Amino acid sequence: MKPLKFTLITLFPEALQPYLNSSMLYKAQDRGIIAIDYVNLRDFGLGPHKSVDDTPYGGGDGMLLRCEPVFAAIESVKADDSTAEVILPTPVGTVWTQDLVRQFAGVDPTTDGAENAVREKTAQQPQPGSQHYIILCPHYEGYDERIMSIVDYPISLGNYVLTGGELPALIIIDSITRLLPGVLGGENSAAIESFSDGDNLEYPQYTKPAEFRGMAVPEVLLSGHHGKIAEWRAEQSRLRTERKQP
Ligand code: ADE
Repeated sequence: MKPLKFTLITLFPEALQPYLNSSMLYKAQDRGIIAIDYVNLRDFGLGPHKSVDDTPYGGGDGMLLRCEPVFAAIESVKADDSTAEVILPTPVGTVWTQDLVRQFAGVDPTTDGAENAVREKTAQQPQPGSQHYIILCPHYEGYDERIMSIVDYPISLGNYVLTGGELPALIIIDSITRLLPGVLGGENSAAIESFSDGDNLEYPQYTKPAEFRGMAVPEVLLSGHHGKIAEWRAEQSRLRTERKQP
């Protein structure tokens, strides 16, 4: 299967590379499950200073990303792959949830999990489900609204404002990649984790030692009684979910 490709259009590739070249994301690239490409927006800048931004019409503070460099950068990627779809991290976008992550990963919601993910099915599924996402990382105070006309998916990471699209891009890539088949070690670890079914939070977990500074691991987990353990976990999961989303 072809890797799921992410092309990052950014002014700061050096801010993205250390994270993307570590741990799970490194392994996913090494195994050919994802591929990451960088396009430096500065290469498409205007004039001798390779300018990518300008002041807003109508006045106001700050600088806005201009259309010309952004359209040129996106079109240069699409010239090689016309199927690529554009994600724009922006506070005005659709809020990124685990349901959306699953759709972008092309994972069947009924069979979530590393072993059962079915990206092969994406051809029959409604969009999203691309094999190639271009993530445009704006910087500065904002962007010319006409840039929206070339964007397929405006995505917000939540109700707060970040300085640029680089951190959202990392979160988007991380959350998608961990659902792809062959990425996580544990057979079902992606499936049982918090939010994995979109509704229920994960139960609390413990490892050795059985007691640490007076804090004991719940007895039932040491009992070896699988039925009781499953019951306890289901109940804890329910309580946590209720507390967080009453
Ligand atoms: N850029 C700035 N703030 C953002 C947010 N909350 N989500 C996505 N992109 C952003």
